[in-house]
Amino acid sequence: MNVVLLGAPGSGKGTQAALVCKNLHLAHISTGDLLRQAVKQGTELGLQAKEYMNKGAFVPMELVLKLLEERLKQPDCKKGFVLDGFPRNKEQLEAISKKIKTDVAVLIQIEDSALEARLTGRRVCTSCGETYHISHLVTERCPKCGGALMIRSDDNVQTIRNRLQVFHKETQPMIEEYKTMGILEVVEGDADMLTVYQGIMEAIKKHDNH
Ligand code: AP5
Ligand code: ZN
Repeated sequence: MNVVLLGAPGSGKGTQAALVCKNLHLAHISTGDLLRQAVKQGTELGLQAKEYMNKGAFVPMELVLKLLEERLKQPDCKKGFVLDGFPRNKEQLEAISKKIKTDVAVLIQIEDSALEARLTGRRVCTSCGETYHISHLVTERCPKCGGALMIRSDDNVQTIRNRLQVFHKETQPMIEEYKTMGILEVVEGDADMLTVYQGIMEAIKKHDNH
């Protein structure tokens, strides 16, 4: 089962992909996470990617594809995966369609007005990588492992606005193509995490022929 999870920055793709993968035993492939890992490791690719990410622009596709192809070779991808953050425009959709078969594309639909507060309030554990929202935290440490929490470098108001603009200009027209292919499912994203999760699971089940 190969699932593509679509949605604006902050719609909850990362949060939901983790839950879905845990339940369905699928591999979680986040191009954002792969890029942040390359930045952290200080690789040549990471250094190139960093300036685009800090502006909220797309990283050139060749760089993203290189990381994605490496990731797809890992054995855990054989049983299926959830792709979070790729494809993001028609060019990327074309590139990925040549390599993999997508069973269902689930769009987490949410108005822009809800997203700024979600993103400026996001905290990520530097130790275990878990994502939280500040409204759910009682201390400044990770509730799961006690690690220090950080704010992503692209979660500032200016960069968030750029990311949203790019989503509307580049990604939204691409989403229409999944509709034409007959594999698009839309789930309401402005709801609590469990409700969104249940919506996504139902959407996936409709396309599960395995
Ligand atoms: P990426 O890391 O993919 O960022 P994004 O698409 O902007 O999405 P986010 O990770 O910000 O949000 P999310 O939808 O995963 O939300 P989350 O679950 O964390 O990409 C980063 C950058 O990398 C891009 O800008 C680009 O430069 C580059 N890049 C990546 N892929 C690329 C590609 N294919 N091509 C080119 N460049 C690429 O949730 C957000 C917050 O909301 C959290 O605090 C969470 O706790 C909270 N939250 C989640 N769900 C709910 C809920 N139901 N109710 C209340 N709060 C919630
Ligand atoms: Zn942690």
